[in-house]
Amino acid sequence: MIWGLANSNLALVKYWGKADEGAKHPAGGSLSVTLDSLVTAAGVELDPSLRQDEVIGLPDKAIPKVVSFLDAFRARTGNGSRARVRLSSNFPVAAGLASSASTFAALAQAIVAAHGIPATPAELADLARLGSGSACRSVFGGFVEWRPIRGGSVVEPVAPKEHWDLAILVAVTSERPKDVGSSEGMKRTAASSPYYPAWIESGVTDLAEMRGAVAARDLGCVGEIAERNCMRMHAAAMAANPPLLYWEAATIAVIRKVWELRARGLAAYFSIDAGPQVKVLCARDDSAAVVAALASVAGVVRVIQSKPGDGPRVVAEPPAWVERVVDAPAAKRAVAS
Ligand code: PMV
Repeated sequence: MIWGLANSNLALVKYWGKADEGAKHPAGGSLSVTLDSLVTAAGVELDPSLRQDEVIGLPDKAIPKVVSFLDAFRARTGNGSRARVRLSSNFPVAAGLASSASTFAALAQAIVAAHGIPATPAELADLARLGSGSACRSVFGGFVEWRPIRGGSVVEPVAPKEHWDLAILVAVTSERPKDVGSSEGMKRTAASSPYYPAWIESGVTDLAEMRGAVAARDLGCVGEIAERNCMRMHAAAMAANPPLLYWEAATIAVIRKVWELRARGLAAYFSIDAGPQVKVLCARDDSAAVVAALASVAGVVRVIQSKPGDGPRVVAEPPAWVERVVDAPAAKRAVAS
Protein backbone atom coordinates (compact mmCIF):
# COMPACT_ATOMS: atom_id res chain seq x y z
CA MET A 1 0.00 0.00 0.00
CA ILE A 2 1.26 3.48 -0.90
CA TRP A 3 0.62 6.13 1.75
CA GLY A 4 0.09 9.84 1.25
CA LEU A 5 -0.35 12.35 4.06
CA ALA A 6 -1.91 15.79 3.77
CA ASN A 7 -2.93 18.52 6.16
CA SER A 8 -6.24 20.25 6.45
CA ASN A 9 -6.48 23.99 5.86
CA LEU A 10 -8.36 26.92 7.31
CA ALA A 11 -9.77 29.45 4.87
CA LEU A 12 -9.20 33.00 6.12
CA VAL A 13 -11.27 34.15 3.12
CA LYS A 14 -13.74 31.44 2.27
CA TYR A 15 -14.89 29.48 -0.72
CA TRP A 16 -18.69 29.12 -0.58
CA GLY A 17 -20.20 28.73 -4.04
CA LYS A 18 -19.18 27.21 -7.33
CA ALA A 19 -18.99 28.70 -10.80
CA ASP A 20 -18.81 25.18 -12.24
CA GLU A 21 -20.48 22.34 -10.31
CA GLY A 22 -18.85 19.52 -12.24
CA ALA A 23 -15.25 20.73 -12.33
CA LYS A 24 -15.61 22.40 -8.92
CA HIS A 25 -14.29 25.79 -9.94
CA PRO A 26 -15.13 28.47 -7.35
CA ALA A 27 -17.38 31.48 -7.82
CA GLY A 28 -15.05 33.57 -5.67
CA GLY A 29 -11.45 33.60 -4.51
CA SER A 30 -10.28 32.17 -1.19
CA LEU A 31 -7.10 32.29 0.87
CA SER A 32 -6.16 29.63 3.40
CA VAL A 33 -3.47 28.54 5.76
CA THR A 34 -2.47 24.86 5.74
CA LEU A 35 -2.64 23.44 9.28
CA ASP A 36 0.21 21.32 10.57
CA SER A 37 -1.56 19.20 13.20
CA LEU A 38 -4.77 18.18 11.38
CA VAL A 39 -3.63 15.31 9.19
CA THR A 40 -5.26 12.71 6.96
CA ALA A 41 -3.44 9.57 5.85
CA ALA A 42 -4.60 7.90 2.63
CA GLY A 43 -3.37 4.44 1.65
CA VAL A 44 -3.91 3.20 -1.92
CA GLU A 45 -3.33 -0.25 -3.32
CA LEU A 46 -4.24 -0.87 -6.95
CA ASP A 47 -5.81 -4.24 -7.57
CA PRO A 48 -7.07 -5.01 -11.09
CA SER A 49 -8.82 -8.12 -9.73
CA LEU A 50 -11.20 -6.03 -7.59
CA ARG A 51 -14.68 -5.67 -9.08
CA GLN A 52 -15.35 -2.65 -6.94
CA ASP A 53 -13.28 -0.11 -5.08
CA GLU A 54 -12.90 -0.89 -1.42
CA VAL A 55 -12.88 2.13 0.87
CA ILE A 56 -12.28 1.77 4.58
CA GLY A 57 -12.20 4.38 7.31
CA LEU A 58 -14.97 6.87 6.55
CA PRO A 59 -18.62 7.17 7.61
CA ASP A 60 -20.93 5.48 5.03
CA LYS A 61 -22.30 8.84 3.91
CA ALA A 62 -18.85 10.07 2.86
CA ILE A 63 -17.84 7.03 0.79
CA PRO A 64 -19.64 7.81 -2.51
CA LYS A 65 -17.57 11.00 -2.79
CA VAL A 66 -14.37 8.95 -2.62
CA VAL A 67 -15.65 6.50 -5.22
CA SER A 68 -16.66 9.38 -7.52
CA PHE A 69 -13.17 10.79 -7.10
CA LEU A 70 -11.62 7.44 -8.07
CA ASP A 71 -13.97 7.25 -11.07
CA ALA A 72 -12.97 10.77 -12.12
CA PHE A 73 -9.29 9.86 -11.77
CA ARG A 74 -9.78 6.75 -13.93
CA ALA A 75 -11.72 8.68 -16.56
CA ARG A 76 -9.04 11.34 -16.69
CA THR A 77 -5.97 9.06 -16.79
CA GLY A 78 -7.48 6.13 -18.70
CA ASN A 79 -6.31 3.78 -15.95
CA GLY A 80 -9.11 1.37 -15.14
CA SER A 81 -7.72 -0.40 -12.11
CA ARG A 82 -9.91 -0.56 -8.99
CA ALA A 83 -8.29 0.32 -5.70
CA ARG A 84 -8.24 -0.58 -2.06
CA VAL A 85 -8.26 2.68 -0.12
CA ARG A 86 -7.63 3.24 3.58
CA LEU A 87 -8.40 6.65 5.04
CA SER A 88 -7.75 7.91 8.49
CA SER A 89 -7.62 11.35 10.07
CA ASN A 90 -6.21 12.31 13.44
CA PHE A 91 -9.25 14.58 14.05
CA PRO A 92 -13.07 14.31 13.72
CA VAL A 93 -14.16 13.95 10.09
CA ALA A 94 -17.14 15.57 8.34
CA ALA A 95 -17.61 17.89 11.30
CA GLY A 96 -16.52 21.24 9.91
CA LEU A 97 -12.78 20.78 10.30
CA ALA A 98 -12.15 20.65 6.56
CA SER A 99 -11.42 16.92 6.62
CA SER A 100 -12.44 16.72 2.96
CA ALA A 101 -9.51 19.03 2.13
CA SER A 102 -6.90 16.83 3.79
CA THR A 103 -8.65 13.63 2.65
CA PHE A 104 -8.63 14.46 -1.06
CA ALA A 105 -5.19 16.07 -1.03
CA ALA A 106 -3.79 12.93 0.65
CA LEU A 107 -5.72 10.66 -1.70
CA ALA A 108 -4.57 12.57 -4.79
CA GLN A 109 -0.99 12.30 -3.57
CA ALA A 110 -1.30 8.57 -2.82
CA ILE A 111 -3.04 7.65 -6.06
CA VAL A 112 -0.54 9.36 -8.35
CA ALA A 113 2.28 7.75 -6.36
CA ALA A 114 0.58 4.34 -6.61
CA HIS A 115 0.46 4.76 -10.40
CA GLY A 116 3.97 6.15 -10.55
CA ILE A 117 2.61 9.22 -12.32
CA PRO A 118 4.86 12.26 -11.90
CA ALA A 119 2.58 15.18 -10.98
CA THR A 120 3.45 18.83 -10.57
CA PRO A 121 1.79 20.60 -7.61
CA ALA A 122 -0.59 22.28 -10.08
CA GLU A 123 -1.59 18.89 -11.51
CA LEU A 124 -2.02 17.45 -8.03
CA ALA A 125 -4.18 20.42 -7.06
CA ASP A 126 -6.27 19.94 -10.18
CA LEU A 127 -6.82 16.32 -9.21
CA ALA A 128 -7.51 16.97 -5.50
CA ARG A 129 -10.11 19.56 -6.49
CA LEU A 130 -12.17 16.83 -8.17
CA GLY A 131 -12.76 15.36 -4.70
CA SER A 132 -13.37 18.60 -2.83
CA GLY A 133 -12.77 22.20 -3.85
CA SER A 134 -10.86 23.20 -0.74
CA ALA A 135 -8.54 20.19 -1.16
CA CYS A 136 -6.66 21.98 -3.93
CA ARG A 137 -5.39 24.48 -1.35
CA SER A 138 -4.03 21.66 0.86
CA VAL A 139 -1.71 20.66 -1.99
CA PHE A 140 0.53 23.52 -0.86
CA GLY A 141 1.98 24.34 2.53
CA GLY A 142 1.82 27.73 4.21
CA PHE A 143 -0.57 30.39 2.88
CA VAL A 144 -2.44 29.55 -0.31
CA GLU A 145 -4.74 31.41 -2.68
CA TRP A 146 -7.32 29.85 -4.99
CA ARG A 147 -9.22 32.09 -7.36
CA PRO A 148 -11.46 31.81 -10.37
CA ILE A 149 -10.04 32.64 -13.78
CA ARG A 150 -11.91 32.64 -17.06
CA GLY A 151 -13.21 29.12 -17.58
CA GLY A 152 -11.47 27.64 -14.54
CA SER A 153 -9.44 28.45 -11.47
CA VAL A 154 -5.86 28.76 -10.32
CA VAL A 155 -4.33 27.82 -6.97
CA GLU A 156 -0.94 29.03 -5.81
CA PRO A 157 1.07 29.48 -2.64
CA VAL A 158 1.34 33.10 -1.50
CA ALA A 159 3.77 32.57 1.40
CA PRO A 160 5.59 29.57 2.88
CA LYS A 161 4.80 28.28 6.39
CA GLU A 162 7.97 29.95 7.72
CA HIS A 163 6.54 33.33 6.72
CA TRP A 164 4.48 33.58 9.92
CA ASP A 165 4.50 31.55 13.11
CA LEU A 166 0.82 32.15 13.72
CA ALA A 167 -1.04 30.07 16.31
CA ILE A 168 -4.26 28.52 15.02
CA LEU A 169 -6.35 26.96 17.79
CA VAL A 170 -9.39 24.83 17.13
CA ALA A 171 -12.11 24.85 19.79
CA VAL A 172 -14.00 21.61 19.13
CA THR A 173 -17.60 21.97 20.27
CA SER A 174 -19.09 18.82 18.74
CA GLU A 175 -17.60 15.72 17.13
CA ARG A 176 -20.88 14.69 15.53
CA PRO A 177 -20.87 14.64 11.69
CA LYS A 178 -22.78 17.62 10.32
CA ASP A 179 -26.24 17.28 8.76
CA VAL A 180 -25.65 19.24 5.55
CA GLY A 181 -22.27 18.89 3.82
CA SER A 182 -20.44 21.80 2.22
CA SER A 183 -21.32 20.91 -1.39
CA GLU A 184 -25.03 20.75 -0.67
CA GLY A 185 -24.82 23.79 1.62
CA MET A 186 -23.14 26.05 -0.92
CA LYS A 187 -25.46 24.88 -3.68
CA ARG A 188 -28.50 25.70 -1.57
CA THR A 189 -27.05 29.09 -0.61
CA ALA A 190 -26.35 29.99 -4.24
CA ALA A 191 -29.80 28.85 -5.34
CA SER A 192 -31.93 30.42 -2.63
CA SER A 193 -30.14 32.97 -0.45
CA PRO A 194 -30.93 36.57 -1.38
CA TYR A 195 -27.55 37.47 0.15
CA TYR A 196 -25.49 35.17 -2.08
CA PRO A 197 -24.67 37.83 -4.73
CA ALA A 198 -23.57 40.23 -1.98
CA TRP A 199 -21.43 37.46 -0.43
CA ILE A 200 -19.62 36.85 -3.70
CA GLU A 201 -19.22 40.56 -4.38
CA SER A 202 -17.85 41.41 -0.94
CA GLY A 203 -15.39 38.51 -1.17
CA VAL A 204 -13.43 40.37 -3.87
CA THR A 205 -12.42 43.12 -1.44
CA ASP A 206 -11.83 40.63 1.37
CA LEU A 207 -9.41 38.63 -0.77
CA ALA A 208 -7.46 41.66 -1.97
CA GLU A 209 -7.14 43.03 1.56
CA MET A 210 -6.32 39.63 3.06
CA ARG A 211 -3.48 39.14 0.58
CA GLY A 212 -1.87 42.38 1.78
CA ALA A 213 -2.51 41.66 5.46
CA VAL A 214 -0.93 38.19 5.26
CA ALA A 215 2.07 39.59 3.40
CA ALA A 216 2.49 42.18 6.17
CA ARG A 217 1.90 39.60 8.97
CA ASP A 218 -0.66 42.03 10.36
CA LEU A 219 -2.68 39.94 12.82
CA GLY A 220 -5.22 42.67 13.59
CA CYS A 221 -5.97 43.18 9.93
CA VAL A 222 -6.01 39.44 9.05
CA GLY A 223 -8.26 38.77 12.03
CA GLU A 224 -10.75 41.51 11.23
CA ILE A 225 -11.08 40.44 7.60
CA ALA A 226 -11.32 36.74 8.56
CA GLU A 227 -14.11 37.42 11.08
CA ARG A 228 -16.19 39.59 8.77
CA ASN A 229 -15.70 37.17 5.87
CA CYS A 230 -16.75 34.22 8.03
CA MET A 231 -19.84 36.06 9.35
CA ARG A 232 -20.87 37.03 5.83
CA MET A 233 -20.56 33.45 4.61
CA HIS A 234 -22.69 32.20 7.49
CA ALA A 235 -25.20 35.05 7.07
CA ALA A 236 -25.65 34.08 3.42
CA ALA A 237 -26.07 30.42 4.41
CA MET A 238 -28.53 31.19 7.20
CA ALA A 239 -30.66 33.11 4.70
CA ALA A 240 -30.93 30.09 2.37
CA ASN A 241 -34.21 28.25 1.95
CA PRO A 242 -34.43 25.96 3.90
CA PRO A 243 -31.97 27.79 6.18
CA LEU A 244 -28.53 26.44 7.05
CA LEU A 245 -27.27 26.74 10.59
CA TYR A 246 -23.92 25.07 11.26
CA TRP A 247 -23.44 26.43 14.77
CA GLU A 248 -24.11 24.96 18.23
CA ALA A 249 -24.75 27.05 21.34
CA ALA A 250 -21.08 26.57 22.28
CA THR A 251 -20.02 28.02 18.91
CA ILE A 252 -21.61 31.34 19.88
CA ALA A 253 -20.18 31.10 23.40
CA VAL A 254 -16.67 30.79 21.87
CA ILE A 255 -17.28 33.78 19.57
CA ARG A 256 -18.24 35.83 22.64
CA LYS A 257 -15.19 34.59 24.53
CA VAL A 258 -12.91 35.67 21.67
CA TRP A 259 -14.49 39.14 21.65
CA GLU A 260 -14.13 39.29 25.44
CA LEU A 261 -10.42 38.41 25.16
CA ARG A 262 -9.99 41.20 22.62
CA ALA A 263 -11.75 43.69 24.87
CA ARG A 264 -9.17 42.71 27.54
CA GLY A 265 -6.32 43.44 25.11
CA LEU A 266 -5.54 39.91 23.89
CA ALA A 267 -5.40 39.82 20.08
CA ALA A 268 -7.47 36.74 19.18
CA TYR A 269 -9.78 36.37 16.16
CA PHE A 270 -12.14 33.62 15.05
CA SER A 271 -13.21 31.87 11.88
CA ILE A 272 -15.79 29.10 11.42
CA ASP A 273 -16.27 26.73 8.49
CA ALA A 274 -19.33 24.64 7.66
CA GLY A 275 -19.61 23.18 11.14
CA PRO A 276 -19.75 24.13 14.82
CA GLN A 277 -15.99 24.28 15.57
CA VAL A 278 -14.31 27.65 16.06
CA LYS A 279 -10.80 28.28 14.80
CA VAL A 280 -8.97 31.04 16.65
CA LEU A 281 -5.96 32.97 15.39
CA CYS A 282 -3.49 34.56 17.77
CA ALA A 283 0.21 35.27 18.24
CA ARG A 284 2.30 32.29 19.36
CA ASP A 285 3.19 34.07 22.63
CA ASP A 286 -0.48 34.43 23.52
CA SER A 287 -1.51 30.88 22.65
CA ALA A 288 -1.31 29.39 26.17
CA ALA A 289 -3.60 32.10 27.56
CA VAL A 290 -6.02 31.75 24.64
CA VAL A 291 -6.12 27.93 24.88
CA ALA A 292 -6.96 28.20 28.59
CA ALA A 293 -9.72 30.73 27.88
CA LEU A 294 -11.24 28.59 25.10
CA ALA A 295 -11.07 25.41 27.19
CA SER A 296 -12.99 27.18 29.97
CA VAL A 297 -16.04 27.78 27.73
CA ALA A 298 -18.94 25.41 28.54
CA GLY A 299 -19.45 23.02 25.63
CA VAL A 300 -15.87 23.07 24.36
CA VAL A 301 -14.83 19.42 24.16
CA ARG A 302 -11.15 20.05 23.48
CA VAL A 303 -8.77 22.53 21.90
CA ILE A 304 -6.42 21.43 19.12
CA GLN A 305 -3.30 23.55 18.70
CA SER A 306 -1.93 24.11 15.24
CA LYS A 307 0.30 26.35 13.15
CA PRO A 308 1.07 26.80 9.44
CA GLY A 309 2.05 23.42 7.99
CA ASP A 310 3.35 21.56 4.95
CA GLY A 311 1.81 20.27 1.74
CA PRO A 312 1.27 16.54 1.01
CA ARG A 313 3.98 13.94 1.15
CA VAL A 314 4.42 10.21 0.47
CA VAL A 315 5.55 8.21 3.50
CA ALA A 316 6.95 4.68 3.77
CA GLU A 317 4.85 3.84 6.82
CA PRO A 318 1.50 5.29 7.93
CA PRO A 319 1.53 7.20 11.25
CA ALA A 320 0.77 5.12 14.38
CA TRP A 321 -2.76 6.52 14.76
CA VAL A 322 -3.85 5.02 11.40
CA GLU A 323 -3.80 1.41 12.58
CA ARG A 324 -6.12 2.10 15.47
CA VAL A 325 -8.77 3.66 13.27
CA VAL A 326 -8.51 1.23 10.35
CA ASP A 327 -8.75 -1.82 12.59
CA ALA A 328 -11.64 -0.45 14.63
CA PRO A 329 -14.87 -2.48 14.32
CA ALA A 330 -16.71 0.65 13.18
CA ALA A 331 -14.51 0.92 10.09
CA LYS A 332 -16.67 0.50 7.03
CA ARG A 333 -16.14 -1.61 3.97
CA ALA A 334 -17.60 -0.01 0.94
CA VAL A 335 -19.09 -0.53 -2.36
CA ALA A 336 -18.19 1.14 -5.57
CA SER A 337 -20.20 2.26 -8.54
O1 PMV B 1 -14.20 21.89 -0.22
P1 PMV B 1 -15.51 21.76 0.40
O2 PMV B 1 -16.55 21.35 -0.58
O3 PMV B 1 -15.47 20.86 1.61
O4 PMV B 1 -15.95 23.23 0.94
C1 PMV B 1 -15.25 23.95 1.92
C2 PMV B 1 -16.06 25.08 2.42
C3 PMV B 1 -15.52 25.83 3.61
O5 PMV B 1 -14.70 25.01 4.41
C4 PMV B 1 -16.69 26.30 4.48
C5 PMV B 1 -14.76 27.10 3.21
C6 PMV B 1 -13.39 26.91 2.64
O6 PMV B 1 -12.97 27.75 1.85
O7 PMV B 1 -12.69 25.95 3.03
